[in-house]
Amino acid sequence: MSTVSAPPKSLMKPMVFPQKLMMGPGPSNCPPRVLNACAMPILGHLHPEFTQIMDEVKEGVKYMFQTKNEWTVCVSGTGHAAMETACCNLLESGETTLVCCNGLWGERFSDMALRNGAVVKRIERPMGEVFTLGEIEEGLRKYCPSVLFITHGESSGSTLQPLEGIGALCHKYNCLLLVDSVAACGGVPMYMDKWEIDVLYTGSQKVLSAPPGASPISFSPKAKAKVQGRKTKIRSWYFDMNELANYWGCDDGPRRYHHTGPINCVYALREGLARLAEEGLEKSWANHRHCVEELWEGIEKMGLQLLVKDKANRLPCVTGVKVPNGVNWKEVSDYAMKNHRVEISGGLGQQAGKIWRIGIMGYNATPDNVRRVLRALDDALKFTRGQASSKL
Ligand code: GLV
Repeated sequence: MSTVSAPPKSLMKPMVFPQKLMMGPGPSNCPPRVLNACAMPILGHLHPEFTQIMDEVKEGVKYMFQTKNEWTVCVSGTGHAAMETACCNLLESGETTLVCCNGLWGERFSDMALRNGAVVKRIERPMGEVFTLGEIEEGLRKYCPSVLFITHGESSGSTLQPLEGIGALCHKYNCLLLVDSVAACGGVPMYMDKWEIDVLYTGSQKVLSAPPGASPISFSPKAKAKVQGRKTKIRSWYFDMNELANYWGCDDGPRRYHHTGPINCVYALREGLARLAEEGLEKSWANHRHCVEELWEGIEKMGLQLLVKDKANRLPCVTGVKVPNGVNWKEVSDYAMKNHRVEISGGLGQQAGKIWRIGIMGYNATPDNVRRVLRALDDALKFTRGQASSKL
């Protein structure tokens, strides 16, 4: 009789992959070119052909971020890994960070900073609202933080935070500016160097339309100097930027083995960045804008309201739509998935149950997809309202 347990029956069946149109806050659909890249032969994580691809990825990220920073790499992990990297490299125990919190990402960063022993101070706005320069300056003056965290595209509240002027303000108060642009970069203007951003990161599965798994991040010379001048060791071995910068060929030394990067995710990311480079940043920003204007118009024509009133503060990549009284958001979203194979997501945190979130990102940013999601939402609403009135 065998001494091992039975093999799992679930693994004896093929996996199931229905075609879905991913119109939530990410992941977005990957174009065939990106998926094909995932299927290319594996290379060693230090083979010259792979380090060449890593160098091309770095060039693409510098273009996407509009930066010349030497310390520009990809973290092996999703956007949260990039957030952890920023947090554990920039903050030492006992240092103060000021977190601008208007949604989930400020909450998450606060938690990470506390876990790294930092003192966390916060300025807050309700989800769906953004910060003014005046509010930020008051916080900088009051708390004298060494790092200010702000979210560019707050996907949970569907806001686009204006960034111009914040870097200069932070530097006036001897503070570094850290920006989360996971849900915005590539779809809206970004000028890392011109806007004096010290650390910026994004994700691969949003505007870049690549699978999650390798996340771009860049450190300004000021941020690099802070990391290199730390009194204490970086708490995470895996996310230590000194090591990652070497592995990504950002210093003069030969690349050392640090960890085995997600090889095929890096191929896919390279193709996502190549698509963006071929399209051109300005065209990509304009295309997202054009598509989302059509979405907003269609939603308002259906008699629905958008969460963010001021157009200038709406995130083109993720739109928050208020769920009308008496409608169950999940029934609508489930109907859209079941009958149209379209993903429409729900809210997070304080907006859970109160909004739907519709994403328009990268490969999915086309007028056809906008019309498809509008049709799915309209049809789902009519169906659930019909169900509700038939029960009365
Ligand atoms: C993820 O980025 C989300 O906003 O749900």
